[in-house]
Amino acid sequence: MDQYDGKLAVITGAASGIGRALSKRCAREGMRLALADLNSEKLDSLASQLEAEGVTVLTHSLDVSNAAEFKKFADRCLSVLGVPDLLFNNAGILRVGEAWSHSADQWQKIMSVNVMGVVNGLNAFIPKMLEEEKPAHIVNTGSVGSLVAATGMAQYTAAKMAVRGITECLANDLAAKNAAIDVSLLCPGPVLTSISDELLGIESGREEQDPTEHLMAGQPDFITPEECADRVFSALRERRFWIFTHPFNQYINDMTRDIVEGRNPVYKEVQFDK
Ligand SMILES: NC(=O)c1ccc[n+]([C@@H]2O[C@H](COP(=O)([O-])OP(=O)(O)OC[C@H]3O[C@@H](n4cnc5c(N)ncnc54)[C@H](O)[C@@H]3O)[C@@H](O)[C@H]2O)c1
Repeated sequence: MDQYDGKLAVITGAASGIGRALSKRCAREGMRLALADLNSEKLDSLASQLEAEGVTVLTHSLDVSNAAEFKKFADRCLSVLGVPDLLFNNAGILRVGEAWSHSADQWQKIMSVNVMGVVNGLNAFIPKMLEEEKPAHIVNTGSVGSLVAATGMAQYTAAKMAVRGITECLANDLAAKNAAIDVSLLCPGPVLTSISDELLGIESGREEQDPTEHLMAGQPDFITPEECADRVFSALRERRFWIFTHPFNQYINDMTRDIVEGRNPVYKEVQFDK
């Protein structure tokens, strides 16, 4: 699918960061939007902006980890706007800390939002997408952490590696049925959003519209959410499964060679390809 005009995009975590940029990008492509987020205030503010530009937008406040709430969102979306052409299971959260420092409840929370949020999206929409038999594309948001086990990232890595596994199996399952549904795993590198503010020591609660140049100064690897959305759309048009906003092929080659040749993991920072 490379024509998006008039088609329908469903996006979770749409109120902020990458989801917000994807929403605006889909709108620019001429798409209709069904947007979901926990933060209804920010979601409504985005919807008002888009509607003022003539975009059709349905908003729904939900916690993606709640299967029943997700099903309600999907039923509403299917009856009002129809079956999605693009489904972005994007909502996610981050908690940093040593592997032994998170409580069972904190583990539960990360896994239920980052993993079950994706699963709930698949369960709620795929049966209807299969029935419809039209070309579609599902994008699950993983991370560089879907491949790399970084220091202080046990929870996030566990969740994002699970998302990778689910997404690869999903692609196989759909291919085995000859379904016209493409699948991608979005593995963003550093993108300047609320999620990264904590890592960069930026005060939380800044407005998304804040000029980002000064925040990105000294952070050469960071890109804006809008750049991330552009890279996603290039990958969708090329029907790529792996969407690396920041390719790191050399690192992956070295990591794979270490595994094949039986060398123990030694922590080193991810170097993105130049
Ligand atoms: N920013 C990065 O550098 C980066 C890197 C790798 C992966 N990611 C992933 O990208 C995705 C988007 O993150 P972002 O960087 O735009 O962060 P963000 O915090 O700016 O946006 C996340 C959005 O998800 C919403 N959300 C959180 N929990 C939710 C829930 N339970 N139900 C519904 N909505 C919920 C939040 O309200 C927020 O609007 C996440 O899956 C994140 O893990 C981000």
